[in-house]
Amino acid sequence: MWGGRFSKSIDDKFAYLNASFRFDWRLYDADIRGSIAYAKALARSGIITEAERDALIVGLQRVKQEFDLHTFESKSTDEDIHTAVERRLGELVGTVAGKLHTGRSRNDQVATDTRLFVLDAIRNLQSAIRNLQSVIVEKSEAHIDILMPGYTHVQRAQPIIFSHWLMSYFWMLQRDHERFSNCATRASIMPLGAGAIAGNALGIDREFLAHELGFARMSQNSIDAVSDRDFIAEFLFAAALIGVHLSRLGEDLVYYSSAEFGFITMDDAYATGSSLMPQKKNPDAMELARGKSGRLIGDLTTLLTVLKGLPSSYDKDLQEDKEPLFDAVDTLDALLPVVAGVIRTMRVNADSMRAALDTPMLATDLADYLVRKGMPFREAHRKAGEAVKLAESRGVALSELSTEDFKIIATEFDADVNDIFDFNKSVAARDVLGGTAPHAVKEQIAEARALME
Ligand code: ARG
Repeated sequence: MWGGRFSKSIDDKFAYLNASFRFDWRLYDADIRGSIAYAKALARSGIITEAERDALIVGLQRVKQEFDLHTFESKSTDEDIHTAVERRLGELVGTVAGKLHTGRSRNDQVATDTRLFVLDAIRNLQSAIRNLQSVIVEKSEAHIDILMPGYTHVQRAQPIIFSHWLMSYFWMLQRDHERFSNCATRASIMPLGAGAIAGNALGIDREFLAHELGFARMSQNSIDAVSDRDFIAEFLFAAALIGVHLSRLGEDLVYYSSAEFGFITMDDAYATGSSLMPQKKNPDAMELARGKSGRLIGDLTTLLTVLKGLPSSYDKDLQEDKEPLFDAVDTLDALLPVVAGVIRTMRVNADSMRAALDTPMLATDLADYLVRKGMPFREAHRKAGEAVKLAESRGVALSELSTEDFKIIATEFDADVNDIFDFNKSVAARDVLGGTAPHAVKEQIAEARALME
């Protein structure tokens, strides 16, 4: 590949360190697509004949087939995917293979391959995200009338409906989906034609190449083109953030499924047992949803740390971009369908949720009652707090205080104060856009459906 100026071959252990084929073989599809387009471009600018172009294309298609069928035999001298494909192409089509790399460098080649790989990965991940979103929407629709406590600080706050809680994850995933689209915009810039650093001297038609490969735009600076890994960093950030969202969902579901909460029951297909304690049913799927965020954050951190301090243009350090990228893709590929399966199959225990509602959660409604009677909210807040204190000191529910008790706290209270103690009413009152009223949540779901189309 580059032996001309060397008088001996490289040290074995260094060869292992230097080589990337053991992981970057995964770029084969992108690499061969890029090479087929490049062969066409070489023929267009008259560097090779049409017959040579066709020989190269047929050979490249055969190499791809070997990879597809897992019959590709790598050699210990295959440094990376680019050299492996070219070596095999030479075996298949002879010396014409040596013309393919004319004017091209592995620097613009690897940047092109990785962008094509990221664009494919984004398409796949976005459809997995959509699938999870539609599972969330369907589950929310099917359980629209179930009340549960809403928590802040993991303390009972206000009654909400289950679907409202679940739909909160739809919107996180919606932003994740958008983030991947944004990332695709900047990944869809073609570096090919940048050569090693300075550009192509053989009149290669970059516009043609971009069109062939489906890139939206071309890089405008050959140094930046071989140097830029921002699109991977962006991808890894989007991956880390969806990882954080799935982790938070995992945390909610892990404690909602505990005996103390009992709000949901995981389907047996998504739980595991204990090797020692026969009674155990563990929410491993969602614990892994929580745990996998660690490695996704690690993947992003790895790449940013590699990039920091690198001089511009290509440096071999950049080869370290691939393993974190592949790891993030594999992690989300494995995780997203499992999370969707957990949500789809989990049992929602309406009775346990209902039983966890207590009347102090209606103290805000009590304050709102006084506000409607003309009291400033700050004062109403204090009065409602006094009622909570009184009920607590007597060891009774807020609703068990008498109208007289309430009247002593504030003269604005009347017998109709008892109407406050209805969780359904409390929820239905929050009929603002984005609120927890079933009517508002139905509108939220309609909006979510529209966004997914
Ligand atoms: N395997 C290399 C990488 O992933 C390909 C580019 C090598 N370029 C070079 N000048 N050695 O970055």
